[in-house]
Amino acid sequence: MCGIVGYIGKNQDVRMGLDVLRRLEYRGYDSAGVAWYSPEKKEIFCLKKAGRIDDLEKLITESNLELKGNPFILHTRWATHGGVTDENAHPHWDCKKEIFSIHNGIIENYRELKEKLLKEGHKFTSETDTEVVCHLIEKYFQGNLEEAVRKALKEVRGTYGLVVIAKKDPGKIVAARLSSPLILGVNQEGILIASDPSAVITHTRQVINLDDNEIAVLKMDNFHILKEKAFVQIDWTPEEAQKGGYPHFMLKEIMEEPETIENAVRGRLLPDEGNVKLGGLALVENRLRGTKKVFLIACGTASYAARAGEYMLEEYTNLSTEVDLASEFRYRKPIIDKSTAGIFISQSGETADTLAAIREMKEKGALTIGITNVVGSSQSRETAAGIYTRSGQEVAVASTKAFIGQLATLAMLTVYLGRQREMSLVMGKRIVSELAKLPDLARKVLSQSSEIEKISQKYKDFKNFWFMGRKYNYPIALEGTLKLKETSYLHAEGVAAGELKHGALALIDENFPTVAICPSDSVYEKMISNIQEIKARKGPILAIATEGNEDIKKIVDDVIYIPKTLEMLTPILATIPLHLLAYYIAVTLGNDVDKPRNLAKSVTVE
Ligand code: F6R
Repeated sequence: MCGIVGYIGKNQDVRMGLDVLRRLEYRGYDSAGVAWYSPEKKEIFCLKKAGRIDDLEKLITESNLELKGNPFILHTRWATHGGVTDENAHPHWDCKKEIFSIHNGIIENYRELKEKLLKEGHKFTSETDTEVVCHLIEKYFQGNLEEAVRKALKEVRGTYGLVVIAKKDPGKIVAARLSSPLILGVNQEGILIASDPSAVITHTRQVINLDDNEIAVLKMDNFHILKEKAFVQIDWTPEEAQKGGYPHFMLKEIMEEPETIENAVRGRLLPDEGNVKLGGLALVENRLRGTKKVFLIACGTASYAARAGEYMLEEYTNLSTEVDLASEFRYRKPIIDKSTAGIFISQSGETADTLAAIREMKEKGALTIGITNVVGSSQSRETAAGIYTRSGQEVAVASTKAFIGQLATLAMLTVYLGRQREMSLVMGKRIVSELAKLPDLARKVLSQSSEIEKISQKYKDFKNFWFMGRKYNYPIALEGTLKLKETSYLHAEGVAAGELKHGALALIDENFPTVAICPSDSVYEKMISNIQEIKARKGPILAIATEGNEDIKKIVDDVIYIPKTLEMLTPILATIPLHLLAYYIAVTLGNDVDKPRNLAKSVTVE
């Protein structure tokens, strides 16, 4: 999704901004641009290009412009309004080319604003909603940029992280936020503004999050926001953002899955009490005790974690549990009251649909709990309480280790809510002790990576796949499907195995393989019946089965083994080979696994 970088300070080298912008490449984008003020020429220069940051660099070199000046603003665009063209890339400017802005979010009323501005004589050069804001600012500009921005934004409906510079009010960056993140990082040299903390961590760990409806004015040696704000510390190291010797971030992040479980549970397991300590829920402990109904709400991969969480909560807490996609929840009319809790799961904590669902829940008086990875994210600030998954920075666009962190966190939440209700001490102890063993079991799965790579080569030439599972592993079939689709661009569908004979079976033949997740659990026998139905129709089968199950080799084509654990925790182990399978197939097909086409890491628009 779009990325924003701005800088004002002692450094006059605009290339520094390009280096910072590169740190946002992982979010996914389709064009990039830069604008800088040259104090010598008293002009703002701007270059922008559809394609990668490398294409922008080439354009800069060809332009022979001196990349010297300050302030400067840079942007990576992920197209929403208007195609992927040089003209639609950011920054955008006003009629006189004196005001330049970059923007994340969507201006919902841009059509009516544009029509009005056109009638007033403004000339547009792009199809974007962002350009409308430049012209609005131009309309109100009388020498003071923040005043003009403030007036312009009064007319705007929608969401924005907006950063603006003006030739006639130089030495200043004005930034404004509404539902699209912006953070300020300050060091000895100057002030950086960005849409994502990972952009600034090589320069400073001291950041301030702008809140909705705030406008910040950044000058050479100081900045001013409408209200007093405290610094927060970013706990990611720059090294975490590096590939650590792996060819891709995706593989590095899959290899970190055991550590992700370790980090999620560290200091939280209470083996003697058969319970967990979740500090972030302390303030709402009593309210959670009185909770009667739980909604688990998320998007994409996080929504599959929510589905697995539904099975966990229903089995162990007796809480009535419902899962919803955030994008649908906001348009439903679910029955919600004060005894309802909404549990929102999001890696980034910035997903627009999930944030909208949180606001909807709050409005209806329900308790809101966030499960997120990013400290200080919008979700963590907007929910009443929460649990950080502590998965570390996830750079690859396709989510892998963060999903594992979400599942481990949901397992802990199950113990917490279960022990508040009827879960016995013995059962609490059992889950906690299995959770503690899980990192080592996950390492065992990863130790088969070269075997899994070999198996992936047998399946890489198929064009269509089924992934099937039952109960806890039905959501994992969906996760395996999404990961394969988004990284390999192959067609795959996830199915609850019991549904197969209700239609899906019609597609099975020798060219349509099935990945069957069938650990030795309470639904194993049923899964075997489904596997037989596929075999009878000559469909190739790759099974994910429990170690020691030699019988399964007689009926399937290939097997990847996972160690035995509690049924509710098998989704964590079963996911790991599916992540590796998707990775190896995608790499063999020559795809850019870390930045799959058409996708963005943090989906900050509806
Ligand atoms: C898939 C993927 C997406 C995200 C979804 C929600 O691999 O990464 O489906 O899971 O966009 O993102 P978060 O968790 O940041 O809310």
